[in-house]
Amino acid sequence: MNADALYQHFVRRVLFSLSAETAHNLAIRNLRTISSLPSVLAQLQRFQPPPAPKTVFGLTFPNQVGLAAGFDKNGVAIPAWAALGFGFVEIGTVTAQPQPGNPKPRIFRYPEQQALINRLGFNNDGADVVAARLGALRVSGRWPAIPVGINLGKSKVTPIGNAVDDYLYSFRLLAPLADYVVLNVSSPNTPGLRSLQEHNALEQLLRAIQAENQNVRKPVLVKIAPDLSIPELEQVITACEQHEVAGMIATNTTLDHSAIPSARDQTGGLSGRPLREKSTEFVRAITSRSSLPVIASGGITDAGSAREKLEAGAQLLQVYTGYVYRGPGLLREIAQDL
Ligand SMILES: Cc1cc2nc3c(=O)[nH]c(=O)nc-3n(C[C@H](O)[C@H](O)[C@H](O)COP(=O)(O)O)c2cc1C
Repeated sequence: MNADALYQHFVRRVLFSLSAETAHNLAIRNLRTISSLPSVLAQLQRFQPPPAPKTVFGLTFPNQVGLAAGFDKNGVAIPAWAALGFGFVEIGTVTAQPQPGNPKPRIFRYPEQQALINRLGFNNDGADVVAARLGALRVSGRWPAIPVGINLGKSKVTPIGNAVDDYLYSFRLLAPLADYVVLNVSSPNTPGLRSLQEHNALEQLLRAIQAENQNVRKPVLVKIAPDLSIPELEQVITACEQHEVAGMIATNTTLDHSAIPSARDQTGGLSGRPLREKSTEFVRAITSRSSLPVIASGGITDAGSAREKLEAGAQLLQVYTGYVYRGPGLLREIAQDL
């Protein structure tokens, strides 16, 4: 049985019989266990697509498809993601303070739309714990041969006016351990977070982070929302260029739920198939205005949607919702097509 069939007929059937978050936690728990079992990691490598290296912002990626932020928020299964064949993995969002996130239920599946809505609200172990975990992985010899990005957000308890200090705290702890760092100013589930995309707020954040970055010199990227207007996006691009960010991630989840029947709608960010076109539009809008490298995220669920993002000018791709529905076969399908 090939990887796709194994996932569709067995793994997915078990996972989808559980609530979305229980399934997620079960998958993470298993991948965490596997991450310390070299013989199982070697077995998983059978699913890997053939290498197709690509160098972007000074890092070499064994292939262009990465795991998007939010899947492994606490960085507990990094060796397993590498073994499964991802070309890179972005852990987080990590916040300065540990926090439980919003009340459950807070992840909702829409299989007919190949979509998810989530309002997790950055549930994570906090920067101190994640830094200790990654530090231990670095010295264990099990750090993988793929770039590891760390995605940073603002703690819920921190007022938006003190956001810069909150990001700086996490950056100081985590940037030395990361291959690249992402400033997430686009999740819809932390009140006020998206206001950090406004020109002055973003300038202030980027100035502070890049000053701190003089010490470690890591590529810093900015992850944006698909709900910005084009003039707002242009201001974000200008701030990113002025402060020499290494690239942009387009996009996070959307607040446009028009693809979801209203009786089944939920508060939160929508991801997956319905986000595909909007996110591709954003990739194109950035690459037509700027030479900043773009990592495309949003609605990559098959080879065609992956190719569409690359044709829009993206250098790298990230998957989340597509991986939930398709599993490891998605990576093979994209790799075979590219
Ligand atoms: C359950 C869930 C949790 C997420 N958590 C985060 C997060 O913590 N930080 C972040 O930057 N993006 C997060 N995202 C957004 C994804 O990284 C990705 O940008 C978005 O889902 C669009 O890609 P997709 O259509 O392939 O899912 C999350 C998405 C989902 C579905």
